[in-house]
Amino acid sequence: MKHTKGIPRWRANYWLKMAAVPRLAHDSLAAKDLISQGKPVVLTNGCPLVSKATDWSFTHLATVILPEFPCDVYASQTRRFMYWDNAKNSSGYTFTAPTRKETMSFSQFLEVVNNKESVENYYLQSGVVAEMGPAMLHEYTTKFSLENALLYKLIGDWDGFTSNLLLCGQEGVITPLHYDEQQNMFGQLWGRKRVRLFQPEAFSGLYPFPLGHPCDRQSQVTLPSTPGSTELSAEDEIKFPAYSTNAAPFEVYADLEPGEVLYVPQYWWHQMEALSDNTSLSWWYKDLSKAAKAVSVDENGNTKVDPKKVSTTAVRRNVENLIRQSLPNGKQAHLFFLALAAGLLEDETVEVKSEMAASASCAQGVLAADHARRAEVAALVQESWKEILEQAIKMVRMLPFFKERSEAKEFLLELARGRFHSLAVETP
Ligand code: OGA
Ligand code: FE
Repeated sequence: MKHTKGIPRWRANYWLKMAAVPRLAHDSLAAKDLISQGKPVVLTNGCPLVSKATDWSFTHLATVILPEFPCDVYASQTRRFMYWDNAKNSSGYTFTAPTRKETMSFSQFLEVVNNKESVENYYLQSGVVAEMGPAMLHEYTTKFSLENALLYKLIGDWDGFTSNLLLCGQEGVITPLHYDEQQNMFGQLWGRKRVRLFQPEAFSGLYPFPLGHPCDRQSQVTLPSTPGSTELSAEDEIKFPAYSTNAAPFEVYADLEPGEVLYVPQYWWHQMEALSDNTSLSWWYKDLSKAAKAVSVDENGNTKVDPKKVSTTAVRRNVENLIRQSLPNGKQAHLFFLALAAGLLEDETVEVKSEMAASASCAQGVLAADHARRAEVAALVQESWKEILEQAIKMVRMLPFFKERSEAKEFLLELARGRFHSLAVETP
């Protein structure tokens, strides 16, 4: 098939309609500007962070990583490698692990990847550590620029570099849409990768799994395979009606070539797709102190918050956590949010549209799904939940974004809408 800059012809038209992440010379002022503003950018023209490591093919890595080093490798029956962590399942969600985690030597990984008979796909994801051996340490210290890594910490005003993750993926594998709580300079070393990104504000169209679920920080939406398309599966269209208006229009993409670095800002949604067998190296940095500096107390003892320094995703996580902590267990939090979404915690002062009314475009499906749930949840609604909601509204109104009570309530509704419908909680 003829390709247009790595994109099959038949797809090129769709891509033209979509915004591309800016591609700028790594040492340009414009690129540094974008990093300091927390906006994604592809660094081109031989970014010294990774440009010497474009020979990190699977066969090369098999010769430099000690054979006895146990690499973390995920196996999946499908191309999707959804991240999960069962230790996070504090709310007791019914959950079947979508991938299997194994440890093996790098050469064993090479064997399973090259085994054409295998029905499974494989994705190696291992932190880079000294235990990988002296040859790997030599590679790491000579092929990457740690000075350059520190430069980005300074430009972004981040707290500090934390770790590297080595990612070796077979052609076709996908890391589904999620956000991370760290800044990431994502180095593409060998082979090619497509990254699809959404700004943090697309939250209400992307329906992340709740806190207390093993897939926390992951979107519940399966993205259309054609980028920029708003066409979800029939099932997802009913479950996630706001995708087409609140998320899809904001999709941006970058096709990464060897030696390029993509800045993936903290809390930005990203999905990674392997366009060929490929190796990437993530450079992660903590960035928490900025948020702490956003809050100050003036001479009169009034708390002031600088909205520019506050991440709405971090605020949402905190609010969701505080509500969870106000309830006896995670299963109640799940019901609380369902009740909120279904308009069962309404009060006289604020008119709340129920979730089903809000999603008029697919009213039939949602009504059916919601109706069954509404009766079940209504039977369990407790008087004390209204107090918790009041407290949450008060707390949210302390933030500079939400002056009005109705705005605060809408913010809380957005936390609940559509995220809790189709997730079954295990009965105790
Ligand atoms: C990341 C990430 C997944 C991948 O670096 O944050 O999500 O498949 N990577 O590269
Ligand atoms: Fe990530």
